[in-house]
Amino acid sequence: MPACTDASDPGGGIQWPLPQPWPAAHPPLRLGVMASGNGSNFEALVQACREGPLAAEVALLVVNNPGCGAERRAERLGVPCRHADHRLQPSREALDRQLIGLFREAAVDLVVMAGWMRIVTPVLIEAFPGRLVNIHPSLLPSFRGVDAVGQALAAGTTLAGCTAHLVAAEVDAGPILVQAAVPVLAGDDHASLTARIQAREHRILPLAVALAAERIAAAAPGPAAQG
Ligand code: GRF
Repeated sequence: MPACTDASDPGGGIQWPLPQPWPAAHPPLRLGVMASGNGSNFEALVQACREGPLAAEVALLVVNNPGCGAERRAERLGVPCRHADHRLQPSREALDRQLIGLFREAAVDLVVMAGWMRIVTPVLIEAFPGRLVNIHPSLLPSFRGVDAVGQALAAGTTLAGCTAHLVAAEVDAGPILVQAAVPVLAGDDHASLTARIQAREHRILPLAVALAAERIAAAAPGPAAQG
């Protein structure tokens, strides 16, 4: 589906391949979220579910850093939170198996990596085919990996942004769901550019979840649609 500009976005810059209004999921999607740090994207997802327009519920947050900002936000928001501490696991695969167990126990339909600062393995990706979404602070495929904002500043780009995409085995790669662009302004530093990008992340991540849900529904139509 070709991208178009989200007319409801006053700041512009979001390329949005979804028709208005957003498709409603029946019953509402159950989301799992993985976070390592501050958790602002996690909170944006919870708000999009509670205040609309995303027909979903954040059923479980999993953090790998106990006590991190995301966990504190979950407490405030009343969202269940579990720990999957990578320091207690012998391998990346073992951590991923723990994540799978937690998300299956919570019966989630789709998992969002919202600032998950660990590399995931095919163990997790294959457990949630087409159901694992990541948010990255660059216009992919530019500036993959760590410190994408610093990479963009060092490269002297005049346009930065963020990408929500389905997760593939390669780091920060996979089918793009939504992107948003922001300008790099004269005098920007790491903090100011990060803040401008993150404001956009909070808009596009719920959109990306709706798009991923639409793809899942299209791939597996319910009994009524099968005729
Ligand atoms: C975001 O910038 C996201 O793109 C990156 O990690 C950051 C997480 O921020 N993957 P927050 O914890 O959601 O505030």
